Amino acid sequence: MTPGKGLLIVFEGTDGTGKSTQLKLLAAALSKKGLPVISSFEPTNGSFGKKIRALYSNRKDTSLEEELELFIADRKEHVETLIAPALSSGKIVLCDRYYLSTIAYQGAAGLDPIEILRKNAFAPEPDIALLFYAPVATGVTRITENRGDSLNDFEKEEYLAKVKTQFEQLDLPCIQRINANRSIEEIHQDVLHLVENLPGI
Ligand code: ADP
Ligand code: TYD
Repeated sequence: MTPGKGLLIVFEGTDGTGKSTQLKLLAAALSKKGLPVISSFEPTNGSFGKKIRALYSNRKDTSLEEELELFIADRKEHVETLIAPALSSGKIVLCDRYYLSTIAYQGAAGLDPIEILRKNAFAPEPDIALLFYAPVATGVTRITENRGDSLNDFEKEEYLAKVKTQFEQLDLPCIQRINANRSIEEIHQDVLHLVENLPGI
């Protein structure tokens, strides 16, 4: 890790693939090594993030373009207030979802993935994007049974199948694909191995 540069590690994939679980395990492992870790997530808890959460139960009344602008505004705020300052002070930032989610989810909803990527040009590129794969039905079962949650408008199976296809088509140099249809510990070992190959870890 170059002093003053930091590292940006993002966790991506469809819902229920275990991103949050793996982020927590990695944060604990890196902290144990004495490394400076900051964990965050998108949508954030900021003003735009709150507006996005209000869409969860009723997506129909907002246009796709308005929805995209909310995700971008939330990310701009996140980058300015947390991600960029943390990276410039040399921290390792772990982020649960980032712009790959926007490309995959808003792309699956019908917007142009290239245009979405272009609108995210302000956002620092991740040093690594861990892209978790599991069958959509497995993720949905994990959410409804293990986590005890009901599905929001972004988590309907048919839509998630399209989102998964979008993730599969992404071709960015930062992406590392991970089979998330295994035990939590096996996946964690893969994540550790990939992250330990990054400079400064
Ligand atoms: P995501 O953040 O990708 O939506 P979570 O990490 O919240 O997923 O995991 C969803 C649920 O599935 C949680 O109850 C979690 O304990 C469980 N879970 C996570 N990873 C696995 C796994 N590899 N195998 C089985 N269950 C898992
Ligand atoms: P999620 O990580 O599931 O957050 P929560 O724990 O609050 O439910 O993300 C919420 C949903 O938002 C998820 O289904 C994916 C969707 N999403 C997008 O559609 N576009 C984006 O740019 C991001 C970051 C998330």
